[in-house]
Amino acid sequence: MTTEANYPDLPFSQACENNKSPILNVLQKAFTRCSTVLEIGSGTGQHAVHFARNLPHLRWQATDQPVYLAALAERIRRAALPNLPEPLQLDICTDSAPAKAANGLFTANTLHIMPWPVVEHFFSRLNELTSDNATLCIYGPFNYNRQFSSTSNKAFDQSLKSRDPLMGIRDIENVRQLAQQQGFVLQQDCAMPANNRLLCFAKNFQVTEA
Ligand SMILES: C[S@@+](CC[C@H](N)C(=O)[O-])C[C@H]1O[C@@H](n2cnc3c(N)ncnc32)[C@H](O)[C@@H]1O
Repeated sequence: MTTEANYPDLPFSQACENNKSPILNVLQKAFTRCSTVLEIGSGTGQHAVHFARNLPHLRWQATDQPVYLAALAERIRRAALPNLPEPLQLDICTDSAPAKAANGLFTANTLHIMPWPVVEHFFSRLNELTSDNATLCIYGPFNYNRQFSSTSNKAFDQSLKSRDPLMGIRDIENVRQLAQQQGFVLQQDCAMPANNRLLCFAKNFQVTEA
């Protein structure tokens, strides 16, 4: 049977199907006060469709690099959700930010794909991409104290590095530091299935004296 998630003519990620409900459970609270979420690296669009459908108070703006855009746009078109507009091209290295800054930012399984200098660049652009009081949620595998958190993550890291030596599971301490440098403070570090994490940060805005 063809389910909406599994159109045979569109790219499909089983991992997205497995992790979308646990992620949604956290996003329901984390994005309560948000109105617009910008997603970086939306991939197949399965997350975007699931989260837009189940978080109707949000306008979910999917984005990705040009190579993923046509299939992503097609999945989003078929979903026909009022709060899920056409995806935008956004390569974090080269494309400008959408005109309207979002107050939520979500990205899944991207930091281990981006070379570390690109990860640094992504974080350096956070304040351009988001408005004050923004919430940032990052899903994926992370190392703690420079150690893999499971043998499967260690094997995954090896397979990434065999594809491209610049890919690899990132250290949470380094990610927290990059976020902190942009004023984003870790609020929640949630365990997810399959040794993944969902990191929720809030922008620590400055209160100006009257
Ligand atoms: C493993 S896929 C994850 C896709 C989807 N978020 C998921 O969880 O299934 C990695 C994603 O990172 C995106 N990505 C890698 N480098 C990027 C860059 N420089 N700018 C924007 N997205 C990037 C890819 O285009 C791709 O969509």
